[in-house]
Amino acid sequence: MAVVDPNLHALNLLVGAEAGFAISVLDASPDCIKLLDLDGALQFMNGNGLCAMEIDDFASVSRQPWPTLWPAEAEVQLRHAMDEARAGRITRFEAFCPTAKGARRWWHVTVSPVRDGTGRVAWIMAVSRDVTDTVQVRLQLEEQIARQQVLMGEIDHRVKNSFAAVIGLLRMQARLHADGPVGSQLSGAANRIATLARVHDQLHLDPGSRDISLPDYVTALSSDLAQALNAPITVTDRLPPALRVPAGQAAAIGQILAELIGNAVKHARPGTTPGLALDLSHDAGMLTLELSDDGPGLPADFDPERLRGLGMQICMVYVQQMGGGLTHGRSDLGGARFGITLRLEPERDRTDAA
Ligand SMILES: Nc1ncnc2c1ncn2[C@@H]1O[C@H](COP(=O)(O)OP(=O)(O)O)[C@@H](O)[C@H]1O
Ligand SMILES: [Mg+2]
Repeated sequence: MAVVDPNLHALNLLVGAEAGFAISVLDASPDCIKLLDLDGALQFMNGNGLCAMEIDDFASVSRQPWPTLWPAEAEVQLRHAMDEARAGRITRFEAFCPTAKGARRWWHVTVSPVRDGTGRVAWIMAVSRDVTDTVQVRLQLEEQIARQQVLMGEIDHRVKNSFAAVIGLLRMQARLHADGPVGSQLSGAANRIATLARVHDQLHLDPGSRDISLPDYVTALSSDLAQALNAPITVTDRLPPALRVPAGQAAAIGQILAELIGNAVKHARPGTTPGLALDLSHDAGMLTLELSDDGPGLPADFDPERLRGLGMQICMVYVQQMGGGLTHGRSDLGGARFGITLRLEPERDRTDAA
């Protein structure tokens, strides 16, 4: 049985009909196909092209330089594409061009050389595909994103201001009651809110993310607290610089840290500036946080499980939630030492995956 090459078969069928065949292929294409001479004058446009460009009569555009059908902004791009075609190369670009009746349209344009029998470039072919729908969706999306970013910035700004106002108020009230237990509770509340505000600040640094850099957060928070409490803290950060945790966990770690640092300052030797050392490390998904102070040390009967104070209770709750432990003892600085270990949650995806 003879095997017929389908291409050869098609050629046989088309003998003597090449021109007609070529025209019907061009007319069948949904794209707008133009043939230009080497000077760039329009010599032919297929039926769908006339339709797409809303041209009623080809005679009205026949032999016109192709760029005259376009807005002036496209001129440079068109001339470059025609130069390239004359040199035998193909160019593709996207551009805006209204139809003859003024409808707004975006086109994906391919400009390529057409060679004659001798291999010389004889014509330039320009194929334009209407990509208005895609481009419009993209433009709308870009506009929405831009608007959302402005809005986010505005919300962020307000949240920041609200936090600052609440913290300021609490600190002011704390100063009014500076000598009594109410004062220290109020300043404790101010510090807890400042710790949360820090998480917000840190999230704002990378708005697309729900995770924050743990080393950055802990360092920034410690220096905030050192300043607010007027107690220098020496931080030894041995965390991997790229370590990120979900914002919720960072907030919990921040609260523990704020309680421990707050305690070291509150229970320091009277009349001295307390000195604190914070050591951070990470191993096999566990975070270790050690805080030492140079205060009087813990009471002999200190038992974190049985304490009534809010601070140690907050620490214990979070530590248990995060599958960790708390140790305590005497520090190298002569005061108290707390060691906290907890299991870090893995980083999560970006917000848009939610
Ligand atoms: N760094 C520290 N140095 C000395 N004593 C501390 C230290 N941290 C905690 N303590 C002791 O543990 C107790 C419980 O702390 P906490 O639960 O935070 O309550 P509060 O700080 O309100 O007293 C404190 O009252 C104090 O006796
Ligand atoms: Mg306390």
